[in-house]
Amino acid sequence: MTRTRRGFLPSLTIKERPRAKRDSMARRKLVYEGKAKILYEGTEPGTLVQYFKDDATAFNAQKKGTINGVLNNRLSEFFMNGLQSIGIPTHFIKRLNMREQLIRQVEIVPLEVIVRNYAAGTMAKRLGMDEGTALPRPIVEFSYKDDSLGDPLVPEEYIIAFGWASQQDLDDIIALALRVNDFMSGIMYGVGIKLVDFKIEIGRVYEGEFMRLIVADEISPDSCRLWDIETGKKLDKDVFREDLGSLSDAYTEVAKRLGVMPSNSAPMPKPTLIN
Ligand code: TYD
Repeated sequence: MTRTRRGFLPSLTIKERPRAKRDSMARRKLVYEGKAKILYEGTEPGTLVQYFKDDATAFNAQKKGTINGVLNNRLSEFFMNGLQSIGIPTHFIKRLNMREQLIRQVEIVPLEVIVRNYAAGTMAKRLGMDEGTALPRPIVEFSYKDDSLGDPLVPEEYIIAFGWASQQDLDDIIALALRVNDFMSGIMYGVGIKLVDFKIEIGRVYEGEFMRLIVADEISPDSCRLWDIETGKKLDKDVFREDLGSLSDAYTEVAKRLGVMPSNSAPMPKPTLIN
């Protein structure tokens, strides 16, 4: 019998042991599973482990394919660390391995906060604008986070009336989103990429009497529109939405330009669920 921290395991052949060890190490409690990520209970109270899957979905999960969860983990770490270094609070604590990061548990504000610098996607469609038209200034808009409704665009009036966020929260969220936009636009501009638009999610954390709003979820080419400044080539999830080639190649290109490349992208085993 082999003694482990969790108890006794039946004796194993040398060949079997590494697999069993990996599985027991990876065993943890599932908190939430979304389209591209899984959340597990973290090691400390108030933390979660965010696992990046390789599943790509678009058009409200009607189109399915593969993305590179390893790259999204690395890129999100890179952006969140950068934001923190200029004083923008985020949920990111540290990257744990190729696919996982430790994050602060937050109460997610049920909004997709979208910042646009150029017309594209639903805005271009809705207003009959040419994709790529420069906007007079960055525009922040909100969608209500509900997949079954297709994340509908909502005015601030709805958000306040339905109690999803207060006017003060919205003012803070807009200020936060514009700072993220300045940071992300600058970083991307430096590597020859235009930040057309992006989406962030905001979480609430409670510290004693105070509530703070921080950047949560992820920031990766999955939630941005990124175009090469010279050629206009798309380097984001639109490559998958519009069948423009390899999504993995596009994300690798972004990671390479930013100097963020995993040294070893061997696949990690999926953690085992315990109840
Ligand atoms: P938008 O043009 O509103 O929608 P779509 O991508 O369906 O055309 O999206 C603006 C940006 O926000 C774009 O970079 C994608 C991102 N986004 C998400 O990542 N998730 C979402 O749920 C939404 C609504 C937008």
